Amino acid sequence: MEYNECPVLDSEAVNREHDELVRLVNQAEYEAFMGRPARRQLLQLQHYMQQHFQQENSALTALSLPLAEQHQSDHQRLLALVERAYNSGDLDEMLEILTDQLPDAIVQHIDRFDRQAVNWLKRHQHSAA
Ligand SMILES: [Fe+2]
Ligand SMILES: [Fe+2]
Repeated sequence: MEYNECPVLDSEAVNREHDELVRLVNQAEYEAFMGRPARRQLLQLQHYMQQHFQQENSALTALSLPLAEQHQSDHQRLLALVERAYNSGDLDEMLEILTDQLPDAIVQHIDRFDRQAVNWLKRHQHSAA
């Protein structure tokens, strides 16, 4: 997955975390591409995602953002893809998830939900200031 596929949002901190997410996807993808099951890399990715999503989820609920529920269930969808890759005994299937399905789902997620959340927070902070 290319770093520039990942939509750039109006928050440096969030962009940095998404870059790290892309790096961890690529790291797992590389292992699978080399014919290795990528278990450690997938656990790292899963752990990072859980942390990142947890932070987002608490911001979403604390500030009662619009679409918070849909946003959170899309986080579950992304985690389920990582879990499917992890539990798959089939390297081709794992590679397919890591090369196509997960990058697509991440890009869609950031473009729709994270963008909306970041923009909403910006507006909210400005109007509160
Ligand atoms: Fe999100
Ligand atoms: Fe995010």
